[in-house]
Amino acid sequence: MRVAVVGATGAVGSTMLGVMRERSFPADEVVAFASERSVGRTIDFGDRDLEVRALSEDSIQGFDVALFSAGRTTSGEWAPRFVEAGAVVVDNSSRWRMEDDVPLVVAEVNPHALDRQKGIVANPNCSTMQMVVALKPILDAVGIERLVVTTLQSVSGTGQRAVEELHDQTRALIEADEMPAPQVFPHQIAGNVLPQAGNFPADSDYTDEELKLVNESRKILEAPDIGVSATCTRVPVYTSHSESVNVQTRDPLSPEECRELLAGFPGITVLDDPADGVYPLAIDAAGRDDVLVGRIRRDPSHERCLNLWIVSDNLRKGAATNAVQLAELLQSRGLLRTGTKRAA
Ligand code: A2P
Repeated sequence: MRVAVVGATGAVGSTMLGVMRERSFPADEVVAFASERSVGRTIDFGDRDLEVRALSEDSIQGFDVALFSAGRTTSGEWAPRFVEAGAVVVDNSSRWRMEDDVPLVVAEVNPHALDRQKGIVANPNCSTMQMVVALKPILDAVGIERLVVTTLQSVSGTGQRAVEELHDQTRALIEADEMPAPQVFPHQIAGNVLPQAGNFPADSDYTDEELKLVNESRKILEAPDIGVSATCTRVPVYTSHSESVNVQTRDPLSPEECRELLAGFPGITVLDDPADGVYPLAIDAAGRDDVLVGRIRRDPSHERCLNLWIVSDNLRKGAATNAVQLAELLQSRGLLRTGTKRAA
């Protein structure tokens, strides 16, 4: 299997390479792509170095699968070209997620949707990903009517430059140096909480990140009627998104039953002994592939509502790990068309 990683120098791209190595992903050859700026750089890939290449009509030929994390514009332009050249694309950007003929897939939640792929498979937004993993067993058992979600999102979800921005501002704070002006976020992120993750589309009171939580959750869970009310915030944390989720179920569900359901679902670890200080923490989720759920408790204001605290590594399960899992599923289900060019 020949695999392309597009955006290999970025926060998610480099994590995808790391996850592929850890999982002994069955690739005969891995080719790293990034922008022209990075051509000639080498990337450590275990026992070999990968030389970064630029995207061109020639360089994209002959791949079985291409894992993209290079932003919407690059995906919009180059994903169809990879598909035409015979690859199946797993795309991390938001470019293709809501297209009707593009499956939006979480490995543990709706792997069956891969069967209807026509060349592009979309990887969900990171905050949506971890939330739907935790919601799927609840939905299947008792149904879900409505969600009220507040996210506390780490800076790495915005990319490598955002990580550097938090680092530089934090150092300035500690050393009482001149504060570098924000370049990536709309305000200083160090020592702050921003009630804005993503951007506000014209005439919208909600950010695109909040709208993704609404629309992508419904598509993945195949439950268009679930009401979703979302507030997405950015916090000065490097890795892992945390989410407070209020779930209104159709049939009653006790916290004990909920814990049992979640503990039995693949990809979830329940950490829920708050009296002993046991609950999901961003620093504990970082570097792990599972979704951590805790603080499972009744909502005293409504008999069919529970509150959950859901935490996961946004670069891993929220992006890279799921993309690699999808590539593994595509291969094991015989959905890659090795070496064949697609008809135009
Ligand atoms: P580069 O490092 O050369 O800029 P992040 O999400 O961490 O910001 O990373 C974005 C990734 O997408 C990087 O690997 C970046 O490469 C890559 N990228 C950005 N623009 C392009 C482009 N036009 N073609 C290919 N890769 C791109």
